[in-house]
Amino acid sequence: MAKKKRERWTEIRSMDNVLEFTDFVSGNIENPSGRWHEIFGNDDPLVLELGCGRGDYTIKLSNQFPGKNYLGVDIKADRLWRGARKAAREDAGQVLFFRARIEEVDQYFDENEADEIWITFPDPYPKRRHAKRRLTSPFFLQMYKRLLKPDGLVHLKTDCDILFRYTLDVLGKEQIQVVRVVADIYEEAPGDPELTISTRFEEIHRGKGKPIKYLSFSF
Ligand SMILES: C[S@@+](CC[C@H](N)C(=O)[O-])C[C@H]1O[C@@H](n2cnc3c(N)ncnc32)[C@H](O)[C@@H]1O
Repeated sequence: MAKKKRERWTEIRSMDNVLEFTDFVSGNIENPSGRWHEIFGNDDPLVLELGCGRGDYTIKLSNQFPGKNYLGVDIKADRLWRGARKAAREDAGQVLFFRARIEEVDQYFDENEADEIWITFPDPYPKRRHAKRRLTSPFFLQMYKRLLKPDGLVHLKTDCDILFRYTLDVLGKEQIQVVRVVADIYEEAPGDPELTISTRFEEIHRGKGKPIKYLSFSF
């Protein structure tokens, strides 16, 4: 691991706005399941961003739509470090980051504990044999269903046609209600304040002229 990455790995452990799954595995700290409102210190709705990277969406959502608790989840310490540092600089009071693997994240939440989930530019795993790893595969959908409130929404943003079509197909097969589909945000909904929040990966894909897609669903 490069020196900078190693330093950030160490540094996030002492950051007040970052939680590490390793603390809960080792039993140093009580599992946060059922305690997220206590951790944030209020009863506001809980919004998760899975695979938040540098936390762009999480931080910008919290600026534009205050009055909710935002938790950015990612496994990469150096990316979270950037987000956590930015949130601390901006004094973003209702933003926390959680270093954890998404496939294991449900053990840190109680049933119906979250109000919304954002999945922004997840790794698309375009090869069919890797479809199970996509964050909208049936395995992950089951997890989201458990940790979301019954009327909770899952939002997906992607540039990837394969992932987008695959998700619509799985939702159809699983009889999950699709709430909104936008095939090209900047053509169809350019003034939508929630959908036009940009991330690092969105900028990379838009820079290549790719349409940015959005869909939401509810269980
Ligand atoms: C393509 S990046 C997108 C980052 C950010 N959402 C954006 O739009 O800029 C995907 C992110 O998901 C994270 N990720 C991928 N698989 C993960 C997993 N199983 N558990 C936790 N994070 C994961 C990666 O570390 C990476 O930061």
